[in-house]
Amino acid sequence: MPITSDAPRVGTGLTDLDLSDLDLFTGGPPWAAFDALRAQMPCHWNPESPPNHGFWSVTRHADIVAVTRDEETFSSEVGAVNLEELDAEQLQIRKSMLETDGARHFALRRLLQRDFSARSLAPYETFLRGLTATTLDAALAKREFDFVREVSADFPIRVLVRLLGIPDADAGKLIAWGNRMVGNTDPDEADVLLGSPESEQYRHLPFRSPAALEVFAYGDELARQRRGGDSDDLVSKLINREPSDGIPLSERDFHNYFLLLVVAGNETTRHTITHSMQALIEHPEAFALLKERPELLPGAVEEFLRWASPVYHFRRTATREVELHGQRIKEGDKVVVWWAAGNRDESVFAEPYQFDVTRDAREHMAFGKGGPHLCMGNQLARMEIRIMFEEILARVDHAEALGEPARVRSNFVNGIKTYPVRLTGR
Ligand code: HEM
Repeated sequence: MPITSDAPRVGTGLTDLDLSDLDLFTGGPPWAAFDALRAQMPCHWNPESPPNHGFWSVTRHADIVAVTRDEETFSSEVGAVNLEELDAEQLQIRKSMLETDGARHFALRRLLQRDFSARSLAPYETFLRGLTATTLDAALAKREFDFVREVSADFPIRVLVRLLGIPDADAGKLIAWGNRMVGNTDPDEADVLLGSPESEQYRHLPFRSPAALEVFAYGDELARQRRGGDSDDLVSKLINREPSDGIPLSERDFHNYFLLLVVAGNETTRHTITHSMQALIEHPEAFALLKERPELLPGAVEEFLRWASPVYHFRRTATREVELHGQRIKEGDKVVVWWAAGNRDESVFAEPYQFDVTRDAREHMAFGKGGPHLCMGNQLARMEIRIMFEEILARVDHAEALGEPARVRSNFVNGIKTYPVRLTGR
């Protein structure tokens, strides 16, 4: 069986635990802390330094599902969906589908939801396989290389560039914008660090990043060219379709929708691919099994996603007083659901610290779980990861790490910046 254990050493005290402390995440996910929270304080109050007001952490799988399902009590709209605390004006300006509840959220999502179904994406399989082959052949010719730079980093954006109908030559720009925004807590990635005095002037922008302005301008130009046309790229669809609630997209709606598309599938898919490569290198029996039985790969992709847990958390805001595990959550409190913690919940996943590509891991929460905001790109991401590993397994006979992965400094994305490897094969 492709099983080995990576169980964490448990023993974390909970009194001083602060999940807003990024240092806790520099060595990888704080699994022991998540385990302790699930076992001892499944609804845990985490104080924060001013100006923030603290948050509740929810870490059990069942509780996370219950919270994300109940958007009337745990809203995505009345506050931000990350730890940052926004005033009403900032919220209004920065609002995308992610920060919208109810009928308007449904209408926004419906604009493109069908285009992200497995059926609509199937025609892209050949393109994706070709792109994967080109990427891998170039990397494998080097034998020793940084897996992130050569394989996983640019791949998701190159796919999105095709879906958006953008010239391939612009992929580099989109990649750089995405890195600057999502890496806003990492000095290596961000030009303006979240929380720095300089970020104040960008407080109305997503991620407080000036890169957002460049994304908006780029999107505006695409919209200008495609308004009134009938091309089947996602930008044309977004700009020319009418939302089902009859309320047209405002300029701001379009900006935030376009930016969400650029950002949402980039780092997340990249990090899943890198984590999966690392897991296969560290579990050679799983690598060998999948090479021998590639038909197991679609199921294995679910375990890759559970294992990787590329997005640590999302936040909701309580709209009324509510009790959870004896704790009184007040109206306006931030409630953070830790998908990563749910992905190691032993009541759902037996031996959760064993990487087992034969387990049924479909209950994982990498894409969220149970709620209306379940990742809209989940089928696209699954397809990208599956095809990537089909092609890797077909080409590579031997894989080894040449060093430790360098991690993104973040408690939002479980990210890897560099991962030196040697891959050899045909
Ligand atoms: C492995 C890759 C990915 C992971 C782990 C991931 C994870 C997530 C998570 C955790 C959420 C929030 C769920 C919630 O709050 O309930 C989300 C939402 C979203 N994701 Fe993904 N995502 C991935 C890839 C993608 C891709 C490829 C796209 C499309 C290009 C995408 C588009 C979106 C959108 C539009 C939303 C907002 C949905 C809504 O608010 O209704 N994601 N994703």
